[in-house]
Amino acid sequence: MNDAAPIVYLNGSFVPLPDAKVSVLDRGFIFGDGVYELVPVYGREPFRLPHHLARLQRSLDGIGLANPHSNAQWEAIIRDLIARQPFADQGVYFQITRGAAKRDHTFPQGVPPTVFMMSNPLATPTREQVERGVAVVTAEDNRWHRCDLKTISLLGNVLMRQLAAERGAVETVMFRDGFLTEASASNVLVVIGGEIVVPPKDNLILPGITYDAAVEFAAEARVPVVTRPVPKAEALAADEMWLTSSTKEVLAVTTVDGTPFAGGRPGPVFRKVWDVFQKRKPHAVTA
Ligand SMILES: Cc1ncc(COP(=O)(O)O)c(C=O)c1O
Repeated sequence: MNDAAPIVYLNGSFVPLPDAKVSVLDRGFIFGDGVYELVPVYGREPFRLPHHLARLQRSLDGIGLANPHSNAQWEAIIRDLIARQPFADQGVYFQITRGAAKRDHTFPQGVPPTVFMMSNPLATPTREQVERGVAVVTAEDNRWHRCDLKTISLLGNVLMRQLAAERGAVETVMFRDGFLTEASASNVLVVIGGEIVVPPKDNLILPGITYDAAVEFAAEARVPVVTRPVPKAEALAADEMWLTSSTKEVLAVTTVDGTPFAGGRPGPVFRKVWDVFQKRKPHAVTA
């Protein structure tokens, strides 16, 4: 057991967590003005890092903030941080805000961004969650219309996750105007008649890196994938429903709003794709 304070990265330096300090005028604190990424790391090897860095660039472009680092620099910082942790499987979280400036909605000029990075032990699903599936609740999606940007302004998602927690569920699956969007911190895929059906990566969902991985692994498992809007009624009558995210990997939904879903156990298509996922992730460890 290592009791030393974790080492984190802040604006060019690696420091113990208690020494990482940011101004109260930081626009991340004042406005939630920033973007973030979370990269899963297996056996000290980041999974799909280029995909995460490409999405980071997309999020930065979406909020008009210059990328402070090249991809090679990001990778060097990330690998350095990984090497400084006492555990091998990690979730590397990093965020960039528009920096500290006098409070004014308009972008400040000439202010350096704040770059923060930390790494926590990777909390992948338990064996029981994989084998039995998990519970979700449903709600109308009331977030803004740029859910494709991975911004740190997460209040809408926070409230949705809290709703799930209060009802003993792991996620809230959301619908907007009668169509499936995603969950508070996961994408949602369904299986209908042997095909995986995924909502399109439009402005209403985060383009999940694990969603893409699951679609690729489905091809490897010879399961057809169709991308199209999923009406709520179809989603709730689907043969299978899965959550995907960097920490959940692929997880079957077996209870919806307190009622057993899809027979109350993970389906055969889930098993196939989960198996490929376990083989493809770096230094595969079985759950
Ligand atoms: C709202 C939302 N959708 C989807 C995802 C899944 O994205 P990824 O697979 O890249 O982790 C996340 C991840 O945190 C999320 O917050």
